[in-house]
Amino acid sequence: MPVLRSIRERFSREQPLRGIRVGCSLHVTAETATLVRALVAGGADVALCAPNPLSTQDDVAQALSTEGAAVHARYGDDPAAGLAAVAALEPQLTMDDGADLVSALADRNLIGATEETTTGLIRARALDLGFPLIALNEGRAKDLFDNRYGTGQSTLDGVLRATNLLLAGRRVVVVGYGRCGRGVAARAAGAGAHVVVCEVDPLAALEAAMDGYEVMPSLEAAAQGDLFVTATGTRDALRGEHFERMHDGAILCNAGHFDVEIDKTALTGERREVRPQVEEIELADGRRLYLLAEGRVVNLAAAEGHPAAVMDVIFACQALAAEALVKQPDSFGPGVQPLPETIDAEVARLKLDSMAIEIDELTEAQRVYLSSWR
Ligand SMILES: NC(=O)c1ccc[n+]([C@@H]2O[C@H](COP(=O)([O-])OP(=O)(O)OC[C@H]3O[C@@H](n4cnc5c(N)ncnc54)[C@H](O)[C@@H]3O)[C@@H](O)[C@H]2O)c1
Repeated sequence: MPVLRSIRERFSREQPLRGIRVGCSLHVTAETATLVRALVAGGADVALCAPNPLSTQDDVAQALSTEGAAVHARYGDDPAAGLAAVAALEPQLTMDDGADLVSALADRNLIGATEETTTGLIRARALDLGFPLIALNEGRAKDLFDNRYGTGQSTLDGVLRATNLLLAGRRVVVVGYGRCGRGVAARAAGAGAHVVVCEVDPLAALEAAMDGYEVMPSLEAAAQGDLFVTATGTRDALRGEHFERMHDGAILCNAGHFDVEIDKTALTGERREVRPQVEEIELADGRRLYLLAEGRVVNLAAAEGHPAAVMDVIFACQALAAEALVKQPDSFGPGVQPLPETIDAEVARLKLDSMAIEIDELTEAQRVYLSSWR
């Protein structure tokens, strides 16, 4: 994670977070540990809990707690207890993946907060916050690396690890052609799958069609798909009426934040685990459907989340946003605020440096031309 490494080196020299209590509700993975180390190097007191019971890597949690961070997460544990423990430490700054922590502290007077998912921002916008919350999710770097490249690849990684499925020649139905869905569709097509997209937004549906995918209503796609991936951010994207039409052997998984996109309550029948993270549900008529990772976010539950290179970019935005909130509190108003463009540009510049890629600069004449109405 070269971008975060360079930030960590600067943080340990400059100590921009000295004495600041930072509470994080982030998936406890090795990549998160690298962010926590950068924050600790910058002088912060960090406490960490997990937004999902199945995403904690216990070895990482243990290692971090020997390095000065307070970790309240263990694989399989109810996340509510960890969340309460971190909230009780009265963080001055929060970092969320799903807005759990900031929701618990919404009535406090925090320096600020950051949020990195679409779903978390929907929740954060519903809160009446008296402090700034930076919408990392809407930054350009995060959008590109996390939602598109990261989720696209790691969702399929989760599916493959759980099932060992050959994607080539399969019909993969992607429900929701937003930032995540576009990445999943591109990677599935690249692996030789025939991709079908289901959408509710006409522009997103049109984009899918222009990108070369088949677009159809989800009830029609239900009868055709071999593998279904939901990435909508909403509930019941696949539900009873879809399950009724699916063929024997269809596989269902979810890349969206919450385990509500596949209506599990309508998946009734005899259940057994056939492989780790693969549950077979035998319906009353004898058809068998396979649900991956209990309908939870499959790239985290059945794989390792995003590759480190993706998290490097996202967490670099987190670290620089925290620094900006502490150093320039007056430049942010209360409520949800965009990630400053300068941070996006700085992260992209550090990433390009790490890839030894150089780019052009505008000439003076070009700069003048672009800034003049003439
Ligand atoms: N798995 C991961 O690692 C990961 C990473 C980033 C975001 N997410 C989560 O994935 C979800 C989607 O995020 P995004 O950034 O792609 O959001 P987005 O808003 O860009 O895209 C969602 C798309 O789903 C469509 N949609 C909504 N309801 C639908 C329905 N019932 N049927 C068909 N399409 C529907 C919308 O029109 C939209 O185009 C969110 O829950 C987000 O938090 C997961």
